[in-house]
Parts: sequence; structure tokens; C-alpha cells
Amino acid sequence: MTVAEPYRIKSVEPLPVPTRAEREAAIGRAGHNTFLLRSDEIYIDLLTDSGTSAMSDRQWAAMMCGDEAYSGSRSFYRLQEAVGEVYGFRHVVPAHQGRGAEHILSQIAIKPGQYVPGNMYFTTTRAHQELAGGIFADVVIDEAHDARARHPFKGNVDVAKLAALIEREGAQNIAYVNVAVTVNMAGGQPVSMANLREVRELCTRHGILLWCDATRCVENAYFIQQREEGYADRTVASILREMMACFDGCTMSGKKDALVNIGGFLAMNDETLLQRASELVVLFEGMPSYGGMAGRDMEAMAQGVREMVDDAYIAHRVHQVHHLGERLRRAGVPIVEPIGGHAVFIDAARFLPHLDQEQFPAQALAAALYLDSGVRSMERGIVSAGRDPKTSKNRRPRLELVRLTVPRRVYTDSHLDVVADSVQRLHERRHSIGGLRMTYEPPTLRFFTARFEPAGQAPA
Ligand code: F0G
Repeated sequence: MTVAEPYRIKSVEPLPVPTRAEREAAIGRAGHNTFLLRSDEIYIDLLTDSGTSAMSDRQWAAMMCGDEAYSGSRSFYRLQEAVGEVYGFRHVVPAHQGRGAEHILSQIAIKPGQYVPGNMYFTTTRAHQELAGGIFADVVIDEAHDARARHPFKGNVDVAKLAALIEREGAQNIAYVNVAVTVNMAGGQPVSMANLREVRELCTRHGILLWCDATRCVENAYFIQQREEGYADRTVASILREMMACFDGCTMSGKKDALVNIGGFLAMNDETLLQRASELVVLFEGMPSYGGMAGRDMEAMAQGVREMVDDAYIAHRVHQVHHLGERLRRAGVPIVEPIGGHAVFIDAARFLPHLDQEQFPAQALAAALYLDSGVRSMERGIVSAGRDPKTSKNRRPRLELVRLTVPRRVYTDSHLDVVADSVQRLHERRHSIGGLRMTYEPPTLRFFTARFEPAGQAPA
């Protein structure tokens, strides 16, 4: 079935088309790290869906109505109203983006030495938990770590694992449980409503707070509508409300589902948590009525939060990602299945089986893809996983992936076909792709700025 864009194009942005020689020079200068490329060296940019959405005419119009008051901005109250309506939380504390909200939550809710169980790690989330002295504990179901396992809700929490952790460490040693919907690092995989309810029940029984990383919550709600019994006739908006009702609060990166280029927030019902978050937000982000966002950006996010739950919009969004994934799957390219909500993840371990994980196969494949066609993707494997803070050893995640992330409302299916053609070409000559050696490693979140060089001759 063809699912066409539920919008038409009003404004366009020309794309640079770098030559092969320009791409070779660029990837060398960038130390084989796609994060370090300049965007004018890129043809199709699938680095991330974060902050790369196209805003609607209504969002641009709302920006003109931004109230830039230092305190008590009208735009803040618009945002609060939208978050109340769409998520169902009474209070909102704006932040400059998701990690700003994660920082505040980690600082107010974690005592050093406490555990923070979550359904797989996310880079910035875990970094902030560790900065606050917390210990991340992975309680996602085993299937999430297996690129080939087909499970309709591969982001689910393994309730038995979580219960065992609470049993072993004691509820007082659990800061809070953090459930991400969807799970980015597992491939954009959703969590079922049934699972959320079970986790809620367990947390309530032990008096443990349950927080949500709601960054891609609308994509998750769409998967529930499509896959979970009893939800086929429900709107995505009503499913999202039901999901959020399971949580004490959420952190949100507005740069993804909320269809804006910058912004984020924490939302909750509890007054004490609100007060503590407000006390810290003034220190790190800004007044509680702007938290690092301009008034106009809060207006755009308030409008985006309403647009994101439109059923036609979200159905097209996820279908477009599936269009790309299906093309690759049919061509025999190993990808994470089921295909997720925001991106197609190539299984670099199976794509380049001749490379050891310490030769950075996903990093090497991302660099090779850029060289082939000017398409930018992102490593999500051993480089992103970083080092264990205790042993300083490389963490060796089971998933060694390249993410082709689809920005919202930005590219057409033809762009994605160009990407699929290039990946397919690389797959046909995969044995000629060699590994990398790291030449510069920053101390935290190394994937952003690490540099690499070819690790010698590619095998013949
Ligand atoms: N949580 C999840 C699940 C994310 O994917 C991100 C960002 C954040 C939190 C942090 O939000 O960027 O606004 O500070 N993910 C981006 C990505 C960077 O490319 O996946 P932020």
C-alpha cells in the first residue's frame, strides 16, 4: 500500500552533491567519524532525527508570537497547556534539550551508589546517571540485544530481571526506574502497554518512582495501535495519554517527536519533584519558565506537540522508515528486525564478519557509506558504548550497528531509494571494506569527537 505524505512542500532547501574526490578529502579530514563532517559536505543526512525535523507553517507562524519575557512568558503557559493536554502531566519544566532534562532528573533523584534500572542504555542518559553517582542496570528483555530476534515489543522491560534487582539491592537502593519509549539503541523498538502496566505495578508495590524517556513516545504509541490487541481502533493521541498515565514523570527531547529543532522538558504531577527540579533548573538551564529555550521555541514546541499525535502524520512517518528498511531487507542486507520507528539499523557485525569488533566495523561501514554516496549515517556500536567507568575497558555491546535515521517530514522516498542503492552496492563489495584504528579518544561520549584511521590494507 502506498502511504503518501499528508502534507505538501511549501519551501525547499537545495542539497550539495559532493564529488568522489571531495568526499575522500572530507572523510579524511573528519578522522573517519561522520559526526565531524561538515553538513555542506553531505548529500543526504541520516545522521540523526534529532533537531532535524521540518517545521510546519503553523509552527513558523507560532514562532512570531513568541513572548521573550525573562519570567512568566506567555509562551511557557502555552507549552504547559499543550503538555497537559497531550501527555497528561500537570507540571512542565523546560530544558534546552533532552540531556538538560536528564541532568536535572539525575541530580534530583539519584543518591550516589543507587541503581537506575532501564530498558537498555542511551548514551547521554547513562552519562548523566553516572555523573550523579548512579549505576545503570540494563533490564531490557534479552531479545533487544539480538539483531535477529523478532519480537513485536522488543523494547519491553524484563520484569523478572527488574524484580530480581529490586530483591537483591533493596528498593531503597533503586533511585527510580527509567523506561524509554521507544528504545533507540535497540533499533527504535517499542514497549507494549501491557509491559508498562506490569512495570508500574511492580514499582508501586515497592514504592519506586517510574520515569519515562518519552523522546519517541508517539512512535511507540503508533506501534501499540498497530500491534497490540485492543488498540487498533484507538487514536495515537489517546494511546499516548494511556501510556503516560503509567509514569510519575517524563524527560523529553523535543528535538525528536515534538517536531522542533531545539528544546526539551521534564514533566510530572508531583509538587515536590517540581519544586526540586525548578530549584536546579535555574542553576543549569534558566528560569523555570524558559529553562534554556527562547519564547519562540516554546511556541513552536507547543504547536509541534499537538501535530505529533496526528494519526495520518505518524502513520506516514513510520511507513517511510519501513520503506527504506524493506528495500534493504529484500536486497539481503542484514538489518535489525523488526524495523523500528525512527531509523533502519544495519547489522555491521553480520555485514562485515571479517572484522573484529575492536576494528570498529560500524564506524568503518558508516565511513564507507559516506565515501560511496555522500550519505551520512551514525555508528551505534562499540565506539558509542564507551568504556566501563570501573575497569576502563571497552564495553563490547552485542549490537554493532550503523543507524540510518530518517528526519521527520524532510526527505522523500526517492532520497531513501538513493540511500538503499548505495548500501546495496556496498553490500555487494563488502569484503573490500577494512577496519579502523582509533587515533584520538575523548574521555566522555567519545563517539561525538573520536578520530580514526584505516587499520591497514583491506583484505583482498
Ligand atoms: N533519550 C533518547 C532516547 C535519545 O535518543 C536522545 C537523543 C536523548 C535522550 C537526549 O536528547 O539530544 O535532546 O539531548 N538522541 C539523539 C540521537 C542525539 O541522535 O539519537 P537530546
